[in-house]
Amino acid sequence: NKHSSLQGKSVVITAGPTREKIDDVRFISNYSSGKMGFAIARAAAERGAKVTLLAGPVSLITPPLVERVDVESAKEMYDAARQLFETCDVFVSAAAVADYRPDSPFQGKLKKNGEELSLTLRKNPDILAEFSKQKSPSQIAVGFALECEDGLKNAIKKRIEKKLDLIALNFYDGKSSGFEVETNMLTLIGSDDTATVLPLLSKPDAANRLLEAVEKLIQPDS
Ligand code: PMT
Repeated sequence: NKHSSLQGKSVVITAGPTREKIDDVRFISNYSSGKMGFAIARAAAERGAKVTLLAGPVSLITPPLVERVDVESAKEMYDAARQLFETCDVFVSAAAVADYRPDSPFQGKLKKNGEELSLTLRKNPDILAEFSKQKSPSQIAVGFALECEDGLKNAIKKRIEKKLDLIALNFYDGKSSGFEVETNMLTLIGSDDTATVLPLLSKPDAANRLLEAVEKLIQPDS
């Protein structure tokens, strides 16, 4: 076991989708399976980090030595994450957080009525951007950007807007990379905007490559 600079560090990872309630029996969500975030949690724990995994609704087994907190909505994920903002050394946001939620979910079950139904959606808090805003210079913020086109440009824009130390551009092609599948194609973009294109890898291998890049960002304890 070679020494990792993540050894003993407190690492928070978000994973999976969020569910935003329309009424008591329906919700808005997305196809995230949590596999990418769970693979990062496993790999970080293997490197000796103290890992807290904030998981949206997924059907995955908790990796060994990982503390898991289950949440449902973006607001719940934000509330759980906020408790950890101050103490974590690294925050990795692999969750596919819903950008919007129904403004006022109906109580009970919404009745079928008429040909049209309008829902007013309200913006959710941006968990990762809030972390970056509050973090000290020694804390590390890592994000993902799932993009179908103009990936590099959009990912760099997100890295700058959210003040991230590292962003993993996640190429979405609907078959071998992105949601649900076992493999992923990532491009790692650092704070100098240099891009490292990784090949199509299993999500565990992609997680290891991402954490190698994170290890290089950790300042040796003085
Ligand atoms: O779970 P899998 O099926 O394995 O799929 C993995 C994945 C594709 C979900 C994952 O690798 C990924 O790319 N996650 C980010 C998806 C995305 O498109 O994020 P975004 O572009 O909406 O947001 C950019 C970053 O801000 C992300 O790190 C996101 O977690 C974070 N964010 C976004 C919105 C919000 N309200 N809060 C956030 O923290």
